[in-house]
Amino acid sequence: MGQIIDPEGRVCEQTKWHSRQKHAFLEEYLDIWSKQVGKDGKSKLPTLDIFDLYASFGLCYCPDEKKTWMGSALLAAECLKKYQSGKLLFLNTYHPDENELQEQRKSLEDSLSNIHLPERVRTVIESLPVEKALESAISYVNPNYPSLWILDPYQPEHLPWNIIERICKLEGSYHIGNRKIARRPELFICLMTGRLQRLTGMDKEKETVGIVLGMEENIWKAKLEKYRDSDDNTRRALISMYAEKIANFYKKPPIILEVPSTDGNIVYTVFLCTDHNAGHYVMKLHKLPKYQEWRKIEWEKSAETISGKKKERRKDEKLGLKPRFLDEFGENKRNE
Ligand SMILES: C[S@@+](CC[C@H](N)C(=O)[O-])C[C@H]1O[C@@H](n2cnc3c(N)ncnc32)[C@H](O)[C@@H]1O
Repeated sequence: MGQIIDPEGRVCEQTKWHSRQKHAFLEEYLDIWSKQVGKDGKSKLPTLDIFDLYASFGLCYCPDEKKTWMGSALLAAECLKKYQSGKLLFLNTYHPDENELQEQRKSLEDSLSNIHLPERVRTVIESLPVEKALESAISYVNPNYPSLWILDPYQPEHLPWNIIERICKLEGSYHIGNRKIARRPELFICLMTGRLQRLTGMDKEKETVGIVLGMEENIWKAKLEKYRDSDDNTRRALISMYAEKIANFYKKPPIILEVPSTDGNIVYTVFLCTDHNAGHYVMKLHKLPKYQEWRKIEWEKSAETISGKKKERRKDEKLGLKPRFLDEFGENKRNE
């Protein structure tokens, strides 16, 4: 959504309040490394590399809620700082407009420097379109060691399926006793299913949908119809198709989280892909319920307030009343 200065004068990504949910979920996931894998000071911990290909400004600010919080890149940095064997932080912060790009990169560097990463964590910052960023990232990967990939674009068309496929194919291995086990990167994907759903209904966007899903038009259309026949709606159909494609690489189905906006409509879907038993089950059995609890206590109340205020403003517009504005306490006021 572009940049905004928060009340403390920091340049942030202007963010809708619903995105706070995505970051809270990502935080739960990263905590598995910093609090569980790394607990008890085990001596032989595996190294961890994190790749964030859509890193943005670092901080996020929501003007409706007047809140600033850490975006994906800073959450990843915090995780590598806490996890004793954190090794590489690869960030790509890009914008097609050169001035925006420079602003984005500078704010990311500034906010990162406040985290004071230990020397063992190497930081690489690139500013490239995702295809080129991936080439660069791959040159740093050792697939035999754990890596986490955060893919969080603005729009589904910024994340073509072939990017995901190339990451999924970075297969390595590790040993438990004499047993050789395949290792794949762990993925955190945020797919804007709301927009993708709309694109499926637009004739001129058919090719784009195919690129995002990695399927020929006749195939995704036939699948969409098939899912619709079984009483599912377009969004659910798209989620199933995407999950099915991911499942071709991972032994376990992805963990799926649908994220609603403040008006209750689902805006995007997070897919968490890992073959790792601990990661998968800890996330499913402990972290998802913990996240749901967080959502009830910290998110739902303020989400209701925001959508209530929006409704009031829309009602005023219809009645031709003077527009209301949110004062510094987030209250709806009307100009006299
Ligand atoms: C949703 S934001 C990422 C937010 C970030 N993950 C966070 O949590 O703070 C998407 C980012 O992708 C960048 N972007 C846009 N087009 C891109 C492209 N083709 N390749 C890589 N990044 C792109 C945007 O400038 C923006 O910084």
